Amino acid sequence: MDKLIIRGGRKLRGEVAISGAKNAALPIMAASLLASGESIIRRVPHLRDIMTMGRLLAHLGAGFHYERSKALISTERINVFEAPYDLVRTMRASILVLGPLLAKFGRAKVSLPGGCAIGARPINLHLMGLEKLGAEVKLEAGYVVARTRRLKGAAIYFDTPTVTGTENLMMAATLAKGTTVLENAAREPEVVDLADALATMGARIRGAGESVVEIEGVNELKPLEHSIIPDRIEAGTFMTVAGITGGDIVLKECRMDHLDAVVMKLGEAGLQFHGGEGGVRVIGPARPKSTNVKTIPYPGFPTDMQAQFMALMAVAEGTSIVKETVFENRFMHVAELVRMGADITVEGGIATVKGVGRLHGAPLMATDLRASASLVVAALAAKGETEIRRIYHLDRGYEMIEEKLRMIGADVRRVKDE
Ligand code: UD1
Repeated sequence: MDKLIIRGGRKLRGEVAISGAKNAALPIMAASLLASGESIIRRVPHLRDIMTMGRLLAHLGAGFHYERSKALISTERINVFEAPYDLVRTMRASILVLGPLLAKFGRAKVSLPGGCAIGARPINLHLMGLEKLGAEVKLEAGYVVARTRRLKGAAIYFDTPTVTGTENLMMAATLAKGTTVLENAAREPEVVDLADALATMGARIRGAGESVVEIEGVNELKPLEHSIIPDRIEAGTFMTVAGITGGDIVLKECRMDHLDAVVMKLGEAGLQFHGGEGGVRVIGPARPKSTNVKTIPYPGFPTDMQAQFMALMAVAEGTSIVKETVFENRFMHVAELVRMGADITVEGGIATVKGVGRLHGAPLMATDLRASASLVVAALAAKGETEIRRIYHLDRGYEMIEEKLRMIGADVRRVKDE
């Protein structure tokens, strides 16, 4: 296992190219199952989750070839309809093959994701939706087993807007007979990117990005060709890096229109943003100002930015209240930030962050993807050396993180953890 060693305290300056969005690439890779033939996906980041999805598709019988951010997936020979526990347990997003397999082949068996570091994360809404589309869904020995002759369009209402649930049902509905309406659907940019990719296959979808999405089923789809949107969470993470180090960073290939809430909140914290042809320039303040934040589904402030934002607030002037409303128990980073000298208390879904002047380096343990990112952000501004263990979590979601940080002047090393 690798660990990261970071010596903090430098003002980071320079350019960072933002990679393609992991959370858009994963469903779009799964969507390739809806057609027979070769799909081409560009701007796919080189990440552990992407390789896991590639392995899962290969397990189903697909050809998967990845080179220089281009993924080629050929689906002429799909002959396995099961996502086994060993793959699903390393990546919850494996559930995204359920909708496409069921719609195209009439059968699918997917292991239940099981517990996860950030709360219970059920999939009941995915299953409810598939049943509404006429599938027979059973739970057998830790697996979801679903069958259908052909899915039929239906009206589906989500009690909570679920991102992968919306994606799974949108994909399933593309090949259903008749029209499906998803109400209270997730509005995340990744859902829109999936709809755009599905459109290249011949799918008929209206309203992606709004809370009501209408899908008119077709009999057949052709392979997709698509280029993935930039990763808004990676961009947001580098914004907090500029913020906490008093840095001056230009983000290239960043979609500011996907980051309204994040930019607004970071603006309140004292960061400055200048849009230009070469990218977005982000300038950090001498010291951030305390700012309250509440996570809510898009277009609200993303839960995937909560931990990084909290690292910034840990050194801000004044006290901030950070409310997590999307996932219970998503405060794994707090205990680690406290080890660095942060003053944070958590009660229920609310963290009270009293800004301290400076954090100090400490040995730390990464617990999940975004928690790890927040520890990196904090370490970059801390006095002395921070060692972050179990950074495989970070490799699930951040492409070439230490190279990108080094390019802007950070003192970061990856070493083998004995
Ligand atoms: C996706 C993202 C993840 C992000 C999350 C919220 C991917 C691969 N992952 O995860 O990075 O943190 O959105 O923005 O895109 N819920 C139910 N029943 C369900 C499904 C969800 O109750 O069947 C609840 C969850 O417990 C949670 C809320 O809905 O409280 C939102 O979760 P959801 O949007 O489904 O998260 P994911 O799609 O798993």
